[in-house]
Amino acid sequence: MNQSVNILAIESSCDETSAAVVRDGVVLSNLIATQKVHEQYGGVVPEMASRAHMQNIVPVVDVALKNAGIAKEEINAVAFTQAPGLIGSLLVGTCFAKSFAQARNLPLIAVHHMQAHVLAHFIEDPKPAFPFLCLTVSGGHTQVVLCRDYLDMEVLGETIDDAAGEAFDKTAKMLGLPYPGGPLIDKYAQQGDPYRFSFPVSEMKDYKFSFSGIKTAILYFLQKERKTDPDFAEKNMKDICASVQYTIIRMLMKKLEKAADELKISEVGIAGGVSANSGLRKALQETGERKGWNVYIPKFEYCTDNAAMIGITGYHKFLKGEFADLSATPSARAAWQ
Ligand code: KG4
Ligand code: ZN
Repeated sequence: MNQSVNILAIESSCDETSAAVVRDGVVLSNLIATQKVHEQYGGVVPEMASRAHMQNIVPVVDVALKNAGIAKEEINAVAFTQAPGLIGSLLVGTCFAKSFAQARNLPLIAVHHMQAHVLAHFIEDPKPAFPFLCLTVSGGHTQVVLCRDYLDMEVLGETIDDAAGEAFDKTAKMLGLPYPGGPLIDKYAQQGDPYRFSFPVSEMKDYKFSFSGIKTAILYFLQKERKTDPDFAEKNMKDICASVQYTIIRMLMKKLEKAADELKISEVGIAGGVSANSGLRKALQETGERKGWNVYIPKFEYCTDNAAMIGITGYHKFLKGEFADLSATPSARAAWQ
């Protein structure tokens, strides 16, 4: 009888300290400690994130093991996020993973965070068939990824400036909303008129995105309106949010549709924190129905940063014998493998 493979997975690339236990590709536990310390600063403060990871990592791993009903002696490999992310944050997870692996003489698996966001689709059923097209949208990234197999992926295009999540968060900041603003914009947008205000849709070549133009347009728009009415944003919050969200979604869906058409792919999904957005989910469903796609959206806890996706990626690397050694170092901007 084949022996089970239990993988302990660690994610610490930004402001979530997360640990998961994955057995034979099945998630047994997935614990996420969200750092609240950043809220008062309107964004993630890297140094504070590193300190919070240091405080959280041991208890988070401890509870992840307990929730999975697995003793540390039963772990067969340790997977960790090696890149990309905040370097201080990545260092905490990397050092912990290396220490755990070295102490127990276990193989170590280095995981690319963006690859893991795509493989979050393979945690639960229904799972996409290959080739699969994934729009990965988070606070740090906006990418259209062609996924030929679990570990055979290609970034077709990405943003040349801000990420989609940043566009949401920066808009929220200009509107006086707290960080992270994406979920709040989504909430107001659901009650607003998306056609009331119009913002520019960037015209980028190929599968590239750009969100700096819309950010500047919103800034100038608010400055102008606030001159005649200082409470303009508060009075028109729902319609502004709906109009901004509508424009960002149009930019995202345009490229996803172009890629699906050109590559003739009908397995299409979204991943990353912004895929929690209700408007984007609806747009994907509607476009999917119109185009005859099978559409995929991971469960919310697997959309935002989590260690379960690191564990699933780690499992596929384990099966292929892709291990790292103790010389592995984290990287803030590692190229896609
Ligand atoms: O993937 P994630 O948790 O962390 C990164 O790797 O960046 O994504 C966080 C981003 C933030 O920018 C947040 O505002 C955005 O996802 N976000 C949303 C929604 N929920 C989270 N943006 C729009 N609508 C939402 N419902
Ligand atoms: Zn992420």
